[in-house]
Amino acid sequence: MRDSRETFVNHAFVVGHPIKHSRSPLIHGYWLETLGIPGSYTRQDVAPEAFADFIADLKGADRRFVGGNVTIPHKEAAFRLADRPDALSEELGAANTLWLEDGLVHATNTDGHGFVANLDERTPGWDRAGRAVVFGAGGASRAVLQALRDRGIAEIHVVNRTLARAVELADRFGPKIHAHPVEALAEVIGGAGLFVNTTSLGMDGAAAPELDFGGLAPGAIVTDIVYVPLKTPFLLQAERQGLATVDGLGMLLHQAVPGFEKWFGRRPVVDAPLRQRIIDDMER
Ligand code: ATR
Repeated sequence: MRDSRETFVNHAFVVGHPIKHSRSPLIHGYWLETLGIPGSYTRQDVAPEAFADFIADLKGADRRFVGGNVTIPHKEAAFRLADRPDALSEELGAANTLWLEDGLVHATNTDGHGFVANLDERTPGWDRAGRAVVFGAGGASRAVLQALRDRGIAEIHVVNRTLARAVELADRFGPKIHAHPVEALAEVIGGAGLFVNTTSLGMDGAAAPELDFGGLAPGAIVTDIVYVPLKTPFLLQAERQGLATVDGLGMLLHQAVPGFEKWFGRRPVVDAPLRQRIIDDMER
């Protein structure tokens, strides 16, 4: 909590480099507007060499912000430079949400929250899937693995083209996570109730291989954390194979909720007009 001696500020940011394509200002701007909160949320383009100063300035005498979001390429540095990283960001080695409390910079990572909240909203009961398959072992995969484990999914399989990266994540996130090379994908899918794509395959219209989801359990869900395009090649394939799908846009929207609540004191809702606002922006 800010103490009463501090000047009242109600401004938050998203910091990255480059930053002009971030959709976060649309999301937070919508919530500020619809909740009638006086405040702002702005893009801050900060080069890597200037990032440490940006963080130091957050708690300097001339305070401009209550906190903000962090995106590429600063997520790891934000975690390292924060005074109080929480356990989630510590395990991931990356933070996407910062806030000031008692004059210190606190940090967390809300990507995992966004991932599970999206599934909770769209396919309640998804977490009864005893077995989940996560395709990809990059930065985005980490938050998904952490969230699935913390939600209590019994058996989680991470499949990646570069096996060593999958093995590293299995070591990091504990005994429920099992690593496999991409050649084993069809076999690993057998009996799973949830399939998550975290690779960049199919992003922005790029080609994606045809996957056979036939081995998934009846009623299984296929989701993609890529949301451009909204219907990714993997989601279209899964639909053609008669499976339920969840697109990744909701993850983007839900990951923004905890930060907004910290900075502005109200828990915002992910609603249909917000979703439409982002879709309209994507189509422009
Ligand atoms: P992010 O942080 O967005 O997850 P990343 O760290 O670059 O990005 O990871 C991209 C993921 O997509 C990785 O799992 C990558 O596999 P490798 O670890 O083998 O590189 C996966 N990926 C990208 N292009 C791929 C391709 N053509 N075939 C299979 N996997 C691919």
